[in-house]
Formats: sequence, C-alpha cells, structure tokens
Amino acid sequence: EVFRDSGQASIAVAHEIADLMRDKASRGEPCVLGLATGSSPIRVYAELVRLHEQEGLDFSHVITFNLDEYYELPPANRNSYWYFMHDHLFKHVNVAPRNINIPKGNIPLDEVYRHCMDYEARIQAAGGLDFQLLGIGRTGHVGFNEPGSNSRSLTRLITLDHLTRVDAAGDFQGISNVPTRAITMGIQTINQARRIVLLAWGHKKAEIIQRTVEGERTSEIPATYLQEHPNVTVLLDEESSAEL
Ligand code: GLP
Repeated sequence: EVFRDSGQASIAVAHEIADLMRDKASRGEPCVLGLATGSSPIRVYAELVRLHEQEGLDFSHVITFNLDEYYELPPANRNSYWYFMHDHLFKHVNVAPRNINIPKGNIPLDEVYRHCMDYEARIQAAGGLDFQLLGIGRTGHVGFNEPGSNSRSLTRLITLDHLTRVDAAGDFQGISNVPTRAITMGIQTINQARRIVLLAWGHKKAEIIQRTVEGERTSEIPATYLQEHPNVTVLLDEESSAEL
C-alpha cells in the first residue's frame, strides 16, 4: 500500500492496532503485539500515545514482545531498544511492566541461548503474536535477521552486518561504538504472527523494498521470507515505492 506520506501511513497502522486492541478487549482476551524500533515506527507510537491520552485507549490487557536488542547494551543505555521503547511508548501508556518483553542485552554469553529459548516460550505462552510491526534495514533484515538468516530461524544471538552498523553509526557517535552483535527474534518467530505490517519510508529504502516485494525468496534478503506469510501488508511512501 503506497501512501502519499509516511505520516498518513503511520496513522493508518496505529488505528489498525487500536482497533485490534479494542476487539481483543471486548472478547476478554489479551492483545499480543510484536513491536519494532528504529525511526520508521516512531509516528505509529506517537499516534497510539495520542489515542491513549485523548480517547482513553486502554493498554492494560496488552502484552508486548520487542523484536530485538543490541548485545551487550544495558537497558539504561540511551541507545538500547529498552530505552527507545520506554521513551516513545511505554512510559506514556498504561501497559503493565510485567507484560513488557524485550530481549535482554546485558546477560552473560553462556545465558544467551537459554534466554532466547525462554523468549520463544513466553511468546507461545501468551498465545502467539496477534500483530507484528516491522521496519526493514538496507541489508534486507527484519528485526536483526541479517543476510544468511533462514526461514526457520528462532530468537538468537546474531552478528550485525557492516552496512547495518554504518547506518547506526550516527546514533552511537561513530561506528566503533556500535555493538557488533544483537539478540533478535528469528524469521520463523516473526512469520508465526497472525498479522504483519512492514513500514518503509524514504528513497534509501526503495531498492531493498523492490527486492523484498518483487525478488525471489532468498536467505540473502531475509525479508523476502515474508512473501510466505498469508496476511502481510507493506506500507510505503512515494519515495520507498519508487523502484516497484
Ligand atoms: C534496526 C532495527 C530494525 C529496523 C531497522 C531500520 O536495524 N533492528 O528493526 O527495522 O533498524 O531502521 P529505520 O526504521 O530507522 O530505518
């Protein structure tokens, strides 16, 4: 779906999420949201905060699972995804802290595997993801599933691509400060969500969007595995859709 600009698209996806939240609440069920970081979803979160503040949108029955976290960053680090999510969404709404799940970036290496398996188990115990929000990196990653990630991958530790670290260098005041690894949900974890919406804005994303949407499925561009999902929508602005 191509929108005239990213603001309109962001409002549309926020309203889809709000409708889902209200629907699940009316049935007395928790609403399980898979959430993304990066610049792309910022206005989605801003609109959800506005709906909470002005229309009383209720987050008390929402359970969240974030896609990824830098390894090894502690939550208090301003570049952690823990920090990002609290800054843009969680501290402004009434989501219960016990319902917030973000991979832990500051655990010892020998605890990472168990933590990742536990993350998968918690998603299953919550009933699976009702909705997964995604951005996309220029390597074709979703979450931090870099090239080489296969369609059966689960939550795990991954080494970041050079291009991904270059793109993050601005946030970290130089590439040498960008972590080399991250914990990310896998492609299979993401594809098990019942609904997926991917956001991409601006001309820098035009090439990877063309390959993701129109290219062959390949582990070299892990986002192409979204083509296997029965209920996925890619929301674009005019610039990011320019190569389609
Ligand atoms: C990071 C995140 C991804 C995100 C990507 C794109 O790599 N791990 O989840 O999609 O950045 O970021 P942006 O939305 O800022 O372009």
